[in-house]
Amino acid sequence: MFAKDGKTKDVATPRICDVVWHNGKFIKWDDARVHVMSHVLHYGSSIFEGIRCYSTRQGPAVFRLREHMQRFLNSAKIYRMDHPWTLDDLCSASVDLVQQSEMEQCYIRPILFRSLDEEHPAFGVNPFPNPLACYIGAWDWGKYLGDEAIEKGVDVCVSTWNRLTPNSMPAMAKSGANYMNSQLIKMEALLNGFAEGIALDDRGYVSEGSGENIFVVSGGTVMTPPLSSSILAGITRDSVIQICEELGLTIKERSIQRAALYVADEAFFSGTAAEITPIRSVDRITVGNGGRGELTTKIQEAFFQITKGERPAPGDWLTYVNAAKPATADNNGHKVQEGSGASPSPVSGPGTEPALNYHAAGTD
Ligand SMILES: Cc1ncc(COP(=O)(O)O)c(C=O)c1O
Repeated sequence: MFAKDGKTKDVATPRICDVVWHNGKFIKWDDARVHVMSHVLHYGSSIFEGIRCYSTRQGPAVFRLREHMQRFLNSAKIYRMDHPWTLDDLCSASVDLVQQSEMEQCYIRPILFRSLDEEHPAFGVNPFPNPLACYIGAWDWGKYLGDEAIEKGVDVCVSTWNRLTPNSMPAMAKSGANYMNSQLIKMEALLNGFAEGIALDDRGYVSEGSGENIFVVSGGTVMTPPLSSSILAGITRDSVIQICEELGLTIKERSIQRAALYVADEAFFSGTAAEITPIRSVDRITVGNGGRGELTTKIQEAFFQITKGERPAPGDWLTYVNAAKPATADNNGHKVQEGSGASPSPVSGPGTEPALNYHAAGTD
């Protein structure tokens, strides 16, 4: 384990796991390198995931691991990346990695990409001759939009850049190349003094932030754009929808006009990195009372309680990393033996199919 100075980065990175999972084995962080002529560097041929592992009283717990890995497999399928890894392989590799990292909380980054066969190099756009490489790394990541953002909210703009069109780059695949569009949105926002940019879809309806889904609250109804607005089917978005249902809030997937952002009572982002971040202004127009709204607060509280294992989740959302270890802690922090009934189990066990609907086109 070694510390890295996060001062020069936009997000604090206090620790990085010094091993990386690579094609089924653990290698040193320093050995996780690629050739500069790798296909991925030239043509953007990668798919990846971003997963958070939270600190709970029962030790580290990965949030919605199977759903993230199912999306990873779906992204690979869309890009015809024919690899040998199963859902169970990828989930247990992630759990092993967190165990090896000895971190209580971290961000997990699986990536699958087209590399270079140095003995039989291929340099064309055709990706098929290039071998696939799969890695999973982990680091401790701070609050994506800043420490204050979770409480006070962020000032954002509507981007001049549109989100991808469904038949150009599939937004439902989490591919590295999609993030060139995200970078345009993010850079423009930052250079104009905003924390984040919101992109519209090709029809002019609200799509999502550069790395987050978006929700608005109007007249007590929580609304979010449908998958047909070229959004990534966010796992935090799905969690928010399920939390709203559990809290008895009206939640609707529907097309949202840009102007609806300005007149909303509340707005917030959802995402693995950003978690639940309130939006306090859009294009310098104050949203609601310019702070964290009432329903945003309720949803955010429930979300963080669930991620900490302090509130039952609507589904099997937490994979306890130390569940397989013989001794662990119960809800009160007392050590208990496995099999005593008080020990946490890996609630998202092998064979459990993720509940998220990745295939739906979305409704307006
Ligand atoms: C473009 C984009 N939209 C939405 C999200 C939110 O998705 P999730 O909640 O699965 O992290 C992300 C983050 O991964 C993203 O990059």
